[in-house]
Amino acid sequence: MKNLLLTAAALALLASCNAPSSHTKEKTSWTDAEIEQKIEEILPRLTLDEKIKMCHAQSKFTSAGVDRLGIPELWMSDGPHGVRSEINWDDWGYSNWTQDSVTTFPALTALAATFDTKLAYEYGSAIADEALYRRKDVMLGPGVNIYRTPLNGRNFEYMGEDPFLASVMCVPYIHGLQDKNVAACAKHFALNNQETWRNKVDVHVSERALREIYLPAFEAAVKEGGVWSIMGSYNRYDGQYCCHNKKLNKILREEWGFDGCVITDWGGAADTKEAAENGLDIEMGTYTNGLTSQSAEFGYDDYYLAKPFKSMIQKGELSEELLNGKVRNVLRLMFRTSMAPKRDRGCKRTPEHFNTALNVARNAVVLLKNQNNFFPLDSTTTKKIAVIGENATRSMKGGGSSELKPFFEISPLDGIKKQFPNAEITYAMGYGSGAESFGKVHPSPYDAKKLFSEALEAAKNADIVLYIGGLTKAHQQDCEAGDREALELPFGQNELIEKLIEVNPNIACIFVSGNAVAMPWIDKVPAVVQAWYLGCMSGQAIAEVLSGAVNPSGKLPFTFPVKLEDNGAHSFASVESFPSDENKDYFEDYKEGILVGYRWHEAKGIKPLFAFGHGLSYTKFELSDIKLSHTKVAIDGKFTVAATLKNVGEKSGAEVLQVYVGKTGSKVLRPLKELKGFQKLNLAPGEKASVAVTVPVSKLAYWNEEDRAWDIERGEYTVYVGTASDNIISEIKIDVL
Ligand code: GLC
Repeated sequence: MKNLLLTAAALALLASCNAPSSHTKEKTSWTDAEIEQKIEEILPRLTLDEKIKMCHAQSKFTSAGVDRLGIPELWMSDGPHGVRSEINWDDWGYSNWTQDSVTTFPALTALAATFDTKLAYEYGSAIADEALYRRKDVMLGPGVNIYRTPLNGRNFEYMGEDPFLASVMCVPYIHGLQDKNVAACAKHFALNNQETWRNKVDVHVSERALREIYLPAFEAAVKEGGVWSIMGSYNRYDGQYCCHNKKLNKILREEWGFDGCVITDWGGAADTKEAAENGLDIEMGTYTNGLTSQSAEFGYDDYYLAKPFKSMIQKGELSEELLNGKVRNVLRLMFRTSMAPKRDRGCKRTPEHFNTALNVARNAVVLLKNQNNFFPLDSTTTKKIAVIGENATRSMKGGGSSELKPFFEISPLDGIKKQFPNAEITYAMGYGSGAESFGKVHPSPYDAKKLFSEALEAAKNADIVLYIGGLTKAHQQDCEAGDREALELPFGQNELIEKLIEVNPNIACIFVSGNAVAMPWIDKVPAVVQAWYLGCMSGQAIAEVLSGAVNPSGKLPFTFPVKLEDNGAHSFASVESFPSDENKDYFEDYKEGILVGYRWHEAKGIKPLFAFGHGLSYTKFELSDIKLSHTKVAIDGKFTVAATLKNVGEKSGAEVLQVYVGKTGSKVLRPLKELKGFQKLNLAPGEKASVAVTVPVSKLAYWNEEDRAWDIERGEYTVYVGTASDNIISEIKIDVL
């Protein structure tokens, strides 16, 4: 491993993006006016066929350009956590290139857990470098669907249960990408909150919940992020497919002013007329039999926006102006990316990228429980440490379309061995999850009893037990195209943990997962760490946190319920609520409405296992002098929460000041409180600093379903200030006039 890292560093120096540029400051992007002018010059020169070809795939991950005019094809790539290895032109197979292994970054749930917008920008910027190196124009991310159920197979790709957090964290990621002329693609628009029957489900949800919970991150991506493309989701909303949904398109284009490209999820288109009239610009992935040349049965020219669209235009059933509108959006995307005046050549696997991945990972780890200061462990210890669990060594490169080819992965076991060089470290796998796969479960090839007994033996003979388990990013365990079947840990992990506690109660549990899991043994385990899917530097970051070299500062971007029924979507014990009624054309009704995540728990008085925004530290912080800039504020005004944060412990660390706001005596149902601001601060021991979070009153609006408009209630609100949704230090009233 060490040699590999040395090679990586040497290779990276060659490929570093920061090689001194001999260029003078060249123009790297067109102005909007220049782009529009170029579009209008080109459009009349295009033939009908050329225009049609620009609106659908010509291969698995490209849509056509116009060779005749020197307009390049558009290259797209997954995924949100790194540049996916090259896929064949015409089928889902990998091309097995030798130079497309990449820096694998932490999953976006981990990025959200950092509550650090600066890291989000660095993250997007690093991925842009690697995308440019691979000549990709559109990176298919960020995923910003809301965490509605802990069973959703793709929650790890998204940014948690709170629309404000997801909104604030996705914008800098988009800027990081697009500042280097690589398009981001906010996905999956919209209401793609599960994988079960994802291309059949017909979601019905109150417009209030749609506006207040499920759309805000997309709205922020468009309005603040200026995102250049959006991916329609597979599911239906109110009976119409989201890739060409009239209602969603109206909001996207007319209300938000989106001027980018709507791209289908792969295979998400279902109707030519709807696609033509409801804003779809590029149709990707509709079934084609993937032959190296166009197949007679069904090739790219048979796509909904291909021959059928052309013939409807030729018959006068659809206006060519609809096509021109799409081509304008595609050309605009091209002038922002592949046809920008200049683009960096990019680079990959540089020390800077590894460092970005490491910093995100270090700041994402959440210390959930730490009784009797179990952590940090002394890194000079000579004690016997038993590392137990498959996730201590398992590669986490899977997950479906976000899967990557890591240049290297530092496993938790690797990291722990390096961080505790004098300890006597043993390893036992403990359980076997079976092979890596997307879409099917392979039985474990291991002897479960043998693994179990070896683990108990290792624990019995150790001073300290570090259990490293969780989920696997394989089918039904945090992976696309399948949801989890239960909140419980799979593969007999709970039974194993219970037995390990019996043989050695000096045990801590570290979870590598992208979802909440049940912890029935929680009262018997002194320390628990949520370690996410942290990418290539995972093991180093985890070990640094366990040793105190890094003081954990991550905060939960979603609630951990004690049991599944405590979660809103699962509290109705009705298939209509989840995963939909397959006997009623997959009708699904988000019955919990706006009460998602902590909003539900607080409305129903259901204590969570761990709350949204929770995360401990190895040091202690004190919040004081909490005050509001106003006791009364105009309805079009804003107010600032100011406080002093002091590190009163012995270690440097970071804390996240969180500001929630609730309407007292509202005329409509409202959550007790909702996150409306946060600020992360690093402080040395004894250091104190003032922190301020400003909240525009406009952010307190709710969606008035009668008027079908945003509405701000006047009157009294309560401002909750703390360091977790369940750790509120001060509640202050404020009047909106
Ligand atoms: C997949 C995913 C989407 C991905 C696309 C291309 O089905 O839903 O997130 O970007 O297809 O792989």
